[in-house]
Amino acid sequence: MTEKYENFLDLTFYQIYPRSFRDANGDGTGDLRGITEKIPYLKELGIDAVWISPFYKSPCNDGGYDISDYRAIQAEFGTMEDFREMLDAMHASGIKVIVDFVPNHTSTEHFWFKEARKSKDNPYRDFYIWADKPRNDWVACCESAWKYDDVAGQYYLHCFDPTQADLNWENPRVRKEMCDVLDFWVDMGVDGFRCDVIDMICKDWENNRLNTGPHLHEYINELFGREKMAHVFTVGECWGANVENIRKLTGADRGELTTVFQFEHINRNCKSRFEPKDFSLSEFGEIFAKWQKITQENDLLYTLFIENHDLGRCVSRFANDGELRYESATMFATMLYGMRGIPFIYQGQEIGVTNSYFEKIEDFDDMETTAFYRAYKDVLSEDEMWRLINFGSRDNARRPMAWNSGKNGGFSEGEKTWLTLHPDYEKINVEADKASEKSIFRYFKEIIALRKANEVLRRGTFKDMTGEAENYFMYRREYKGEEMVVVCNYEKESRIALPANLVRVIGNYPERETDIFAPYESAIYKVVG
Ligand code: GLC
Ligand code: CA
Repeated sequence: MTEKYENFLDLTFYQIYPRSFRDANGDGTGDLRGITEKIPYLKELGIDAVWISPFYKSPCNDGGYDISDYRAIQAEFGTMEDFREMLDAMHASGIKVIVDFVPNHTSTEHFWFKEARKSKDNPYRDFYIWADKPRNDWVACCESAWKYDDVAGQYYLHCFDPTQADLNWENPRVRKEMCDVLDFWVDMGVDGFRCDVIDMICKDWENNRLNTGPHLHEYINELFGREKMAHVFTVGECWGANVENIRKLTGADRGELTTVFQFEHINRNCKSRFEPKDFSLSEFGEIFAKWQKITQENDLLYTLFIENHDLGRCVSRFANDGELRYESATMFATMLYGMRGIPFIYQGQEIGVTNSYFEKIEDFDDMETTAFYRAYKDVLSEDEMWRLINFGSRDNARRPMAWNSGKNGGFSEGEKTWLTLHPDYEKINVEADKASEKSIFRYFKEIIALRKANEVLRRGTFKDMTGEAENYFMYRREYKGEEMVVVCNYEKESRIALPANLVRVIGNYPERETDIFAPYESAIYKVVG
């Protein structure tokens, strides 16, 4: 592994959804100055790098992933000056900043699209994907992914909301524009990019798949294989990443991506965004062990995440968000951050925020949720509808961050927040969590510090020790003669035979002299002697 790549193993990332992090000017929407205000909080947690979701000019039909100007800041988030101040303040605190890069589509409000629809010979026409009739049966947001545009007199492709038109990457001018967008932000001083649905920029028309087409690697290399990008960190959102293409996407010698988010563990408990599927935690152990092995054998970087702005909260989705909320949240932290890879923590995960359990469609903003509701409201029973929405709605992750139990959870001094706060915010908030005897924040802080203090946790090899067991996950890390063992018990009390000569360095239950592990008990041990 090259030195550049190895150093990335030292970073712990924190993802910020700017609209919901902190509102500095009291208009009810989170903003860039709000992020700057909270840098001390990130430092306290031990964060080295942040990924900030989009704050670019946008009609915000899809939370800002519908960009109308790649080089401008959406007014409610602040100004370019605010951005620079935030970036400088992060850097002054030793925190790297990566921003979202959204190359697959633009808003239909983007200048390119406004031009493109005007006529077939408009110079921007070929920036998008047009057809006289739908070319296939792809579906987006519960409707056809092809929308007829009256002005253009043709259909255009949108793999997400109809106001997000897919760009035509076969056009070299599109690729050049996208390189320029990257250069603009690199010149501004950002440290890297989280690349939105990057594997969708090349469609596989032949196999009727909307990602991983034949020129994908070429296109990505055209973006990131350039000299200017040599020191830039990139993580690609790749729902289609599999064992075959992961080597190409992230090989250190390839000039493509530093690493990817792949979703096998997430996909295992759902059939689609809103449809849960039978799932057992033992599948996590299996999947993680598999990916640890693949990335280790191929010398690749892996990302350690379980939440983001599109996913339900992990305690609700995969474990227990009631009585054992602390145990669940901290068990996942042990399981993930004990492994080899780059931790990504999503805002609120560090205090164990749960899903929302809402009952009114008016309380939602997420366009996927409202589209799903419209499409199925006459088909599903009330109960079923709410079960599915509360499982899958992306607003589970997007409610304003609760900093304390005061007005608007300390998120905003304004009258009304853009999305209502979680109904439990008076109980689950940063201040309350920190003051609690069982503080999730404190556990996260300790485990991040533990990684920092122990090279073996960052660089060590991974060896699965679970064997045939289905009720827990156990693995060993080893580096330059140092060894650590990580044990994560799933939901049932279990007897776990540990190897000899262990000294516990962190755990989410008081240490006991027995081999019985309580539900969601987890711990990390040093091997001594
Ligand atoms: C990614 C983003 C998601 C967005 C979609 C379209 O999946 O994470 O929030 O809706 O891409 O840009
Ligand atoms: Ca604001």
